[in-house]
Amino acid sequence: MKILVTGGAGYIGSHTCVELLDGGHDVVVYDNLCNANEGVLDRVEHITGKRPVFVRGDIRDAEAVEAALRQHACTAIIHFAGLKAVGESVEKPLMYYDNNVVGTMRVLEAAAKTGVRQFVFSSSATVYGEPKFLPFTEEHPTAAMNPYGKTKLAAEGMIEAFAVAVPTCKVALLRYFNPVGAHESGLIGEDPKGIPNNLMPYVTQVAAGRRTHLNVWGNDYDTPDGTGVRDYVHVVDLAKGHVRALDTMAEKGESLTVNLGTGKGYSVLEIVKAVEVASGKTIPTKIGPRRFGDLPAYWADTALAEKLLGWKAERDLAAMCRDSWNWQSKNPDGYV
Ligand code: NAD
Ligand code: WQD
Repeated sequence: MKILVTGGAGYIGSHTCVELLDGGHDVVVYDNLCNANEGVLDRVEHITGKRPVFVRGDIRDAEAVEAALRQHACTAIIHFAGLKAVGESVEKPLMYYDNNVVGTMRVLEAAAKTGVRQFVFSSSATVYGEPKFLPFTEEHPTAAMNPYGKTKLAAEGMIEAFAVAVPTCKVALLRYFNPVGAHESGLIGEDPKGIPNNLMPYVTQVAAGRRTHLNVWGNDYDTPDGTGVRDYVHVVDLAKGHVRALDTMAEKGESLTVNLGTGKGYSVLEIVKAVEVASGKTIPTKIGPRRFGDLPAYWADTALAEKLLGWKAERDLAAMCRDSWNWQSKNPDGYV
C-alpha cells in the first residue's frame, strides 16, 4: 500500500513510518516541520534501508495535500499532523482549532477529491475527560476538558460523519494513552522543543543532567502513592497498532474506534524509579502543587484493540524506560 503520512516527521509518525516501511508499504511523509526536523528522514532510512518520499507542506493547504496524494498515487492516509500541547491550546485555542480541526477537514477534502478511502486518525484518551468508570472503554462518554482535547473530539466527529456520507471510506480513530519510549536503535525518539510538558522526556532530561530535578505535580491524589497514574505505552507498540488498523480496515472493510494503551497504570514516582533503574542515575524530585486540569488516574480497557486488531502492547515499563534513556543519552540535544 502507498500511504500518505501527515506529521510523519514527528515523534509517533516517524516510528510508524519505520513499521510501515519494514512491513513492505511505501510511505510519503507530508509535514510542515513546525515541530520536527528533516534529519529524521535520514534516521528512518538508516533503520529501514528505505527512504520515505518527503513533501514539505501544510495540511491546511488542501490543494498541496491533493497534489501529493495524486502525484504519489496514495491509497491511504495516516493523519498525525497537529498540535498537541494542552497548556498552549488554552492560550491559543484558535491556533489549535485551525491546525487540528480545519487541518483535518482539508485532509479529508483532499481524500474525497482523490478517491482515497482509508483514513487513520491520531486521537487521544484525553477525549474521555473525567472518568465515570475505569478502565476507559471506547463506550465511555466523551467530555474533553481543554481546547486540545476538544479539537480531537471535533475532528473525530467530522471524520465519522465523512465516513457515513462516503460509505466506501473506512476510518480508524485511534485513541492513544501516554506514548513514551523510542526505537531501540536510539536513532529516533521524542524531541520536545524547550521545557518538556510531558513526564518521560522531563525525567530523562533530569537523568542526563540537563535539568536539576523533576517537579512532581501533586502527591495528594487518591492513588496508591498520591501521584498521578497514567497508562504509558511504548511508541513502537503504538506504531505497530497503526499498521494493524490499516490491515484490519482492508481485511474487514470496517471503520473502527479503539484505545491504544497497555491497560496498566503507573504513578509518577514509579516512572521516576524505573528511569533510575534504566539509567543508573539518581533523579531528584520536588513535590509541587497539582497541575491545573490534571486528572488523578486513568488507564485503557484494551479488550477491543485485541479483539478487533489482534493488537496488544508487548513492551513493558522497563523497556519503555530503557529505550527512552537510550534515545536521550545518545542524542543529548535531540535532532541536531
Ligand atoms: P509531534 O509534534 O512530534 O508530531 C506532529 C507532526 O505534525 C510534527 O512533525 C509537525 O511538524 C507536524 N505538523 C503539525 N502541524 C502541521 C501542519 N499544519 N501541517 C503539516 N504538518 C504539521 O507529535 P506526536 O507526539 O508525534 O503526535 C502525533 C499525533 O498524535 C498528534 O495529532 C497528537 O495530537 C496525537 N497524540 C499524541 C499524543 C502524545 O502524547 N504524544 C497522545 C495522543 C495523541
Ligand atoms: C503524566 C503525569 C502529571 C510532568 C498529556 C495530555 C494528553 C496526551 C498525553 C496528547 C501526570 C505528571 C508531568 C512533570 C509531573 N497528549 N507530571 N511532572 O497529562 O497524562 O497527558 O500527554 O494527546 O492529552 O494531556 O501526560 O506526561 O504531561 O503527565 O509530575 O513535569 O506526570 O501531573 O500525572 P498527561 P504528562
